[in-house]
Amino acid sequence: SPIHPFSATIMAWYVEHQRELPWRQTKDPYAIWLSEIILQQTRVAQGLPYYERLLAAFPTVRDLAEAPEALLLRLWQGLGYYSRARNLQKAAQMVMRDFAGDFPRTYDEIITLPGVGPYTAAAIASFAFNEAKAVVDGNVFRVLSRVFEVETDIVSSSARGVFTSLAQSLIPSEDPAGFNQSIMEFGALQCTPAPDCSVCPLRVSCAAFSASRVAELPVKSKK
Ligand code: ADE
Repeated sequence: SPIHPFSATIMAWYVEHQRELPWRQTKDPYAIWLSEIILQQTRVAQGLPYYERLLAAFPTVRDLAEAPEALLLRLWQGLGYYSRARNLQKAAQMVMRDFAGDFPRTYDEIITLPGVGPYTAAAIASFAFNEAKAVVDGNVFRVLSRVFEVETDIVSSSARGVFTSLAQSLIPSEDPAGFNQSIMEFGALQCTPAPDCSVCPLRVSCAAFSASRVAELPVKSKK
């Protein structure tokens, strides 16, 4: 099917505006996984030096699986949420044992790893293997709720399904990885909580902008 105008626009924007981040220069699923676990609860600027140090200390999934836990936890110091580090090593040991040291290559296998949820599995499967699985995080909620004026409360139990189906329908089969990187970066840099819509390439087609409702979307109830 032809590429959706939304997808074409954000992918062209990405070519011009993307940050050069080290995990975007690799197709190694292990390195991509490591970056995504670090970035789950950590800003890019804070996570960057940890990514570089952890990858230098443990260049392969085997190195991580066999590392003394105390060394891993020392390198993790300052990132917090230490269950992330423990799950990381458990997952590396599972890759060694259950996948013969080859990082799993499909979303359905990747999501079986401890610490890996739908978002992280989609990120690894699409970035490393170009599988057409939508990544849906807070940035993606914000972009889609505004452009398509989706009123679903992002705190509600139905939100993930609603936004995942929409995002899934927008993935161009030619380049799922590029689309996912583009929508995440668009949410991080352009379609921010307080965006400058005067420079946005989607201004003409954004439903929220047309309705002067950008500040109201996404809907997030307190509950
Ligand atoms: N946050 C989570 N994943 C990211 C990625 N791949 N690039 C930039 N920020 C991210």
